[in-house]
Amino acid sequence: MSGKIVILTGAGLSAESGLGTFRDEGGLWAQHRIEDVATPKGFARDPRLVHAFYNARRQQAAEATPNAAHDALARLQQRWPDEVILVTQNVDGLHEKAGATAIHMHGILTGALCAACDHRWPAPSEMTPQDMCPHCHAPAARPDIVWFGEIPYHMEAIDKHLQDCAIFAAIGTSGQVYPAAGFVAEAAQSGAETVELNLDRTEISRAFDSHHIGPATDIVPRWVDSLLTGGARRLPFV
Ligand code: OAD
Repeated sequence: MSGKIVILTGAGLSAESGLGTFRDEGGLWAQHRIEDVATPKGFARDPRLVHAFYNARRQQAAEATPNAAHDALARLQQRWPDEVILVTQNVDGLHEKAGATAIHMHGILTGALCAACDHRWPAPSEMTPQDMCPHCHAPAARPDIVWFGEIPYHMEAIDKHLQDCAIFAAIGTSGQVYPAAGFVAEAAQSGAETVELNLDRTEISRAFDSHHIGPATDIVPRWVDSLLTGGARRLPFV
């Protein structure tokens, strides 16, 4: 078995590394208002609050370690005979810590971006509203994170991968945020087999050909092993 595999990952993949998801009970969006911490308007209104939110998340991510699901995906990327493209909505950098490479469509916590000139540089552990862009010297440093109302990164490349993949998988994502939630339809339209791996069913489960339900550290290594041993994508998972 071969063919390109595209895998979309979300916060559920990192949940068992101790990083909170957004929409599960007690998740980040139950504790913070999206409009306050994840929109350009919120940042313009109160940059100190937004920096404090991402500084805390940057610290948590720095302390977190990849789990068995991240490790399995890195293994798949190294051993699969064709390309394995990881497209992540996660900003925690755990794919890279596990030895994989990923397309970061929502940015990354370790990055800083100048809101004035678009220059990028490595973020310090604590960002402040006074931070200056090292390129244009404007005091306009922001986390290199895609906020609501902004266009996710690398969409052209992602679309191309979705159009010529043999398998599309979505792991640990609730399917509530577009454009990522629309990837399954795009891949299916191009003839890919689609599979969802998640703790529970999601609002877009019906769009997938098959489902593996359970914690990522259990179902992802099993799915990866079945692919690598040629055990067929059609293994009857529950
Ligand atoms: P969500 O919090 O919306 O969804 C997490 C999904 O992971 C849910 O469907 C959970 O059931 C599932 N889940 C939880 N624990 C799991 C586990 N141990 N194993 C497997 N699955 C588990 O997070 P995302 O879908 O990633 O964007 O959210 C998408 C985007 O919305 C984020 O990138 C972020 C957020 O607002 C921005 O900040 C722009």
